Amino acid sequence: MGKTLIAFYSRAGENYANGSKVMLEVGNTEVAAQYIAGFVEADMFKIDQVKKYSEDYTECTAQAKMDQSMNVRPELTQYLDSIDEYDTIYLGFPNYWGTMPMAVFTFLERYDFTGKTIRPFVTHEGSMFGDSIEDIKKLCPGATVEEGLSIHGADVRGYRFTIKKWVNR
Ligand SMILES: Cc1cc2nc3c(=O)[nH]c(=O)nc-3n(C[C@H](O)[C@H](O)[C@H](O)COP(=O)(O)O)c2cc1C
Repeated sequence: MGKTLIAFYSRAGENYANGSKVMLEVGNTEVAAQYIAGFVEADMFKIDQVKKYSEDYTECTAQAKMDQSMNVRPELTQYLDSIDEYDTIYLGFPNYWGTMPMAVFTFLERYDFTGKTIRPFVTHEGSMFGDSIEDIKKLCPGATVEEGLSIHGADVRGYRFTIKKWVNR
């Protein structure tokens, strides 16, 4: 049996939670990724971009929107040599403007996911997965994309048990 990978994108800093601004020391998706790591033996990989988005929420949303409209592929701070040894990949990201942050597109385009199982999880403030599942399927045509888990980002700490049930399915 191959190994399991938890690959996720997450941004600490100012964020919007249930209608007001909060400072997050650890991003919501990273909290979810850590819960998953507590329930399954896996390697962790943080998808992180060289050109960081602003800590300021409003500025970040503008930067991310611009990147999405220009369909850019941000350069990542680190890459895996290969994903050959993994057969299951938990893929986590925040919903950015209706889909994944563009850095996750960079990550998915870099490797061949043929024959792999992808288990997506998203944190969001209302839009759940948006178009991200269709986007993952387009970028990873040979992969099996299993039913994902959608997490209300502001309440991520209340999802530990839900995450456990989903991981063990
Ligand atoms: C740039 C940006 C765009 C966002 N767009 C959406 C959106 O379209 N729909 C939604 O429900 N939440 C949206 N959000 C909220 C995030 O998905 C949510 O706060 C998420 O939990 C953040 O995860 P993180 O802390 O791991 O980065 C957006 C947040 C940011 C910063």
